[in-house]
Amino acid sequence: DATYDATVPTTLEEVWGGVQVCRRCELYREGTQGVAGEGPKTAKLMFVGEQPGDQEDLAGKPFVGPAGKVLDRALDEAGVPRGETFVTNAVKHFRHELRGKRRLHKTPDAGHVEACRWWLDAERAIVRPRVIVALGGTAVLSVFGKPMAIGKFRQQAIQLPDQAQGVVTYHPSYLLRVPDAEVKAKAFALFVDDLKFAWKLAA
Ligand code: URA
Repeated sequence: DATYDATVPTTLEEVWGGVQVCRRCELYREGTQGVAGEGPKTAKLMFVGEQPGDQEDLAGKPFVGPAGKVLDRALDEAGVPRGETFVTNAVKHFRHELRGKRRLHKTPDAGHVEACRWWLDAERAIVRPRVIVALGGTAVLSVFGKPMAIGKFRQQAIQLPDQAQGVVTYHPSYLLRVPDAEVKAKAFALFVDDLKFAWKLAA
């Protein structure tokens, strides 16, 4: 609603409330609820994923489903305490299509990312993290405003206009989908390296 939108949220509670009534794009019709970011306002490191999945949509929290389990395992291995980081998504509602009873993930398009950047920008302005990690292509598009090849730009600190350093890495769901076990293990190890890199950069 345009009246609400006129006021930039200044607390994480306002972001949460605003996301619940957001009409900036049509995805509010698809989701059970909006899923705002989670973590302390003082976090030095922010993770940005794509959008809530099936379980996140039901729980109202980011990265609690299968991708979240991968993220947790990698954070553990990297020695990064998730509770000291801020975890959010580029898009706050679950875009999906129904296949029988199953809700199948559908990648949000550039318009959804654009519309929802309002909320990510608000979270960035409130938390003011030193480092923002974009997990996968949709997050890269949201955070950097353009697509970037993850394999080429990972392990680099990329200056963002709001003082934060940007880091790009793979999306945990990608790691779940790699069919070959050996390739999968290697990709996971690179992901862990990227989390370590970002954590050190934020220290
Ligand atoms: N995938 C994402 O990008 N974000 C979530 O919160 C869950 C799965």
